[in-house]
Amino acid sequence: MIGVLVSGTGTNLQALIDEGLEIAAVAANRRDALALQRARAAGIPTATFSLDCHADREERDLAMATWLEEHGVDFVVLAGYMHLLTKRFLDRFPERIVNVHPSLLPAFPGAHAIDDALAAGVETTGVTVHVVDEGIDSGPILRQEQIPIEPRETLVERVHAVEHRILPEVVKELCGR
Ligand code: GRF
Repeated sequence: MIGVLVSGTGTNLQALIDEGLEIAAVAANRRDALALQRARAAGIPTATFSLDCHADREERDLAMATWLEEHGVDFVVLAGYMHLLTKRFLDRFPERIVNVHPSLLPAFPGAHAIDDALAAGVETTGVTVHVVDEGIDSGPILRQEQIPIEPRETLVERVHAVEHRILPEVVKELCGR
């Protein structure tokens, strides 16, 4: 069963839902994540694991992993989840955690990938889906798609459209659905 971690607006979560993927649980690191409303609207159980309610990151991650497992989750998708995961969490779902990132990794890891690509003056950027490890957007790459920077007025929109298409595709492949 698929579990999804979110921090923000949840358009990637929505794409997974709209593609008919069966999502057992959605967890956020912040209570105000709009993605939680999308999950609830789809009838998916949700929970928030914010750092201020836990002793440290490790303890938070352990509680989150346990909650996901209690909901039958054995495959985790990071859909705009903006915290690094500790080893204790990664070890609970070995090789079974994927992330979507708005650049052609290893170029432009981190939280501002689209702006960083624009600032660097590259002609082509893209989207990467990769296995998650302890680094920042650094695990083995599963799928990449290139996107021309120009016309830059529509770049953000085009990047998100590619994310919303390839993330569900890769998750379906990996989950055998
Ligand atoms: C996406 O661009 C994703 O690649 C990045 O954060 C954004 C999340 O958007 N990690 P959303 O919350 O899925 O709308």
